[in-house]
Amino acid sequence: MTVPLLERFRERLPISSATPVVTLGEGSTPLVRAPRLSARLGAEVWLKWEGANPTGSFKDRGMTVAVAKALEDGAAAVVCASTGNTSASAAAYAARAGLPALVLLPAGAVALGKVAQARAAGAVLLQVEGSFDDALGAARELDARGTHALVNSLNPYRLEGQKTAAFELVEELGGPPDVLALPYGGGGNTAAYARGFREAGEGLPRFLLGEAADRSGTAASAIRIGTPVHREAVDAAFAESGGSAIELPDEEILAAWKLLAAEEGLFAEPSSAAGVAALLRSPPPAGARVVCVVTGHGLKDPEAVDRAFPPPRSVAPGPDAIAAAVA
Ligand code: F0G
Repeated sequence: MTVPLLERFRERLPISSATPVVTLGEGSTPLVRAPRLSARLGAEVWLKWEGANPTGSFKDRGMTVAVAKALEDGAAAVVCASTGNTSASAAAYAARAGLPALVLLPAGAVALGKVAQARAAGAVLLQVEGSFDDALGAARELDARGTHALVNSLNPYRLEGQKTAAFELVEELGGPPDVLALPYGGGGNTAAYARGFREAGEGLPRFLLGEAADRSGTAASAIRIGTPVHREAVDAAFAESGGSAIELPDEEILAAWKLLAAEEGLFAEPSSAAGVAALLRSPPPAGARVVCVVTGHGLKDPEAVDRAFPPPRSVAPGPDAIAAAVA
């Protein structure tokens, strides 16, 4: 049985015995060795596989805390703006809590699987005619009106939950890694890891972030975010750790995405490979211990596969035809 994140890390979260445990079995995700990436980079590379969370992304770590607190505080409903994963997570945890969820999506810019998840969970979905940043502005206004509790990462409980990934790394590796590579969208995840490592008390890894060079138009739809709302916290982490962000063209993000699937067997969504892409561009010192946070599952974005790979060929159902097709 997976211990709920709210119970595993109870002492280090802003919750009490009055806080309901709203769980789907989040956190405690696999830390997987990456032998081929390690050989390629001359380093000890690990993958923190956050796609193994219940709704297939790291968002579940923060959402279990945010929705539990919303329930405890008597919220009537939750709202989020999302490039997809936050909405899938919010919809699932709200369903679990028995709360209505309102999801604001940038029109036409969200991967198929993520929309399916939120629809199946019974959320109300609206396509906002604008960008993610526009949708987030609207969600913040609804929160200010008091009709909905905002469960984007501006909700402080989200980062509290997400910081637990750093605790897991410190526990499993016996300390922080030398380098932590991850995607940079709004920066909430980076801010949360920095907080978690600070609280673990053994120093910060060097943060290496991969962000889309074309933030507003990247094919990596999860990180199609014009302005990162957590930029100050990210810059503070850089100042403390000597880290930096690398701007990546889509080709480099997609190349890292393919490499993860074909060389390590790990099928992520494209945005999730931005940390790996940053690492390939800016290799770590020889022998460094590196963790790449792989943020979301590949099944969320089947259209990305359609764009990148040919479909299966048709073949007659006999061994000769099949042998000829693969010769
Ligand atoms: N990776 C994935 C798979 C994401 O869904 C996101 C953000 C990020 C990385 C970037 O993380 O914003 O904390 O720097 N997704 C948000 C959403 C925006 O709405 O699901 P960040």
